[in-house]
Amino acid sequence: MILQHLAIIMDGNGRWASAKGKNRTFGHRQGAKVVREITQYCAGQHIKYLTLYAFSTENWLRPKQEVEFLMKLLEHYLQSELEVYQRNNIRFVVIGDIEGLSKKLQKLIRAMQDATAHNTGLTQFLALNYGAKNEIARSVLSLYDRGVFEQAKSLKREQSIDYVIKNIENTLDTREVSAVDLLIRTGGEMRLSNFLLWQCAYAELFFTPTLWPDFGTKELEGILQRFAQRNRRFGGL
Ligand code: FPP
Repeated sequence: MILQHLAIIMDGNGRWASAKGKNRTFGHRQGAKVVREITQYCAGQHIKYLTLYAFSTENWLRPKQEVEFLMKLLEHYLQSELEVYQRNNIRFVVIGDIEGLSKKLQKLIRAMQDATAHNTGLTQFLALNYGAKNEIARSVLSLYDRGVFEQAKSLKREQSIDYVIKNIENTLDTREVSAVDLLIRTGGEMRLSNFLLWQCAYAELFFTPTLWPDFGTKELEGILQRFAQRNRRFGGL
């Protein structure tokens, strides 16, 4: 079965660190190492798109100190990972409400996106200040600005719905690949947490109790094998 788009909710950094008697930030630091390992593995497996949930629109509610640490960790990641992306032919793209991030982070994101824009292997979408509701609302606002609803109203009802659906898909942050094939969440919780709600309409879902810092290529390989055995019907028979 073809796996074009894999998405992962990386959960459990804090619990992993607490279980070791360490500060939550220790878990995030370890989590960033796993990001590198899994990204390289996916590039090697010829997966086309990998979307990772690194910071949500709701994560600003965390203690200021933790938010600041995550932002610094992201800055460091963007400054140090370019070589890994180039060596593995990986294109880097951020999805989310980028304008809500610091100017410094925005600049680093743009630099990494520009530097990897011509890479032709894996595309990694890193979700930063991302929320699916925010993404859909931004898409709807841009459709409104472009007069799409006026055009839709001039069509027959069924056509107008298809027209709006197509236009939303074409303006989502992930517009080049709207559907997620496989969504994995680590850390034992079974929820979507406002991640890729539109794109996951027909995604296969896998939940693992493994905390993100303990997740690795072996476990991912097992999940990919189980995914290959799933019977995807997309509402048909
Ligand atoms: C969830 O663990 C993880 C996050 C909110 C952030 C994800 C960040 C990383 C994996 C590291 C940074 C990423 C990059 C790309 C540098 P949690 O803190 O919610 O864990 P808990 O549920 O155990 O509290």
